Amino acid sequence: MKDFEKLVRQTSDGSYTIFIPELDENYHSFHGAIQESQHVFINQGLNQFENLLLDVFEVGFGTGLNAFLTYREVERKCININYTSIEAYPLDSKLVDTYISNFENQDDFELLKKMHLAEWGSGIQFSENFKFRKVNSKLELSEFSKESFDIIYYDAFGPRVQPEMWTCGLFSKMFEILRENGLLVTYCAKGQVKRDLRKVGFEVETCQGPPGKREMIRAWKR
Ligand SMILES: C[S@@+](CC[C@H](N)C(=O)[O-])C[C@H]1O[C@@H](n2cnc3c(N)ncnc32)[C@H](O)[C@@H]1O
Repeated sequence: MKDFEKLVRQTSDGSYTIFIPELDENYHSFHGAIQESQHVFINQGLNQFENLLLDVFEVGFGTGLNAFLTYREVERKCININYTSIEAYPLDSKLVDTYISNFENQDDFELLKKMHLAEWGSGIQFSENFKFRKVNSKLELSEFSKESFDIIYYDAFGPRVQPEMWTCGLFSKMFEILRENGLLVTYCAKGQVKRDLRKVGFEVETCQGPPGKREMIRAWKR
């Protein structure tokens, strides 16, 4: 992926995302960035579990929005999360500064800033309940132990822009690193993606998408 121009852009719920004009692709739904992340990854992902300790794996750290919303949920519910996020193309610091400057609440701003400044590769105990680790690598080249995660937030760019992120090979790798009864959630609802997830062993559910999108995918390892 070459270094495309990236712009911070407001979405319909008032929250912000990053837009890549050359690809005509947003990091989040233009119908609402926070709304989408909260629905797809927190409500349909994290909140499907009643466990008090969960290992979460995110594909694509990007703006840090999913990690930020997960932290807030963890503090609200008093559960323990080990959060690992992989990112191949970290945003440059100027763009990060512009993006996070839109978080007006000082605590939110500081939290996101701390997440972005966290050293790649080493884990940080953010709070008693939240352990955080960023990995700077391509998903295709990364290696994680089998059955080490309970939830995968699959937040890659869409198949139109990055078809190589939506292959049976990578889905099979995701299946392997999930524990039994683990869950992969994604905003994508393409028929081919559902068929390929089934092919590698997932039990696939189509559920209601976030505002502005009809459907999304929940895929269980059972
Ligand atoms: C749709 S954006 C979502 C990012 C993030 N979850 C957020 O809320 O901002 C997709 C992210 O995947 C990253 N990405 C692209 N190719 C990747 C790869 N091969 N391995 C890991 N991350 C990748 C992109 O750089 C981008 O940050």
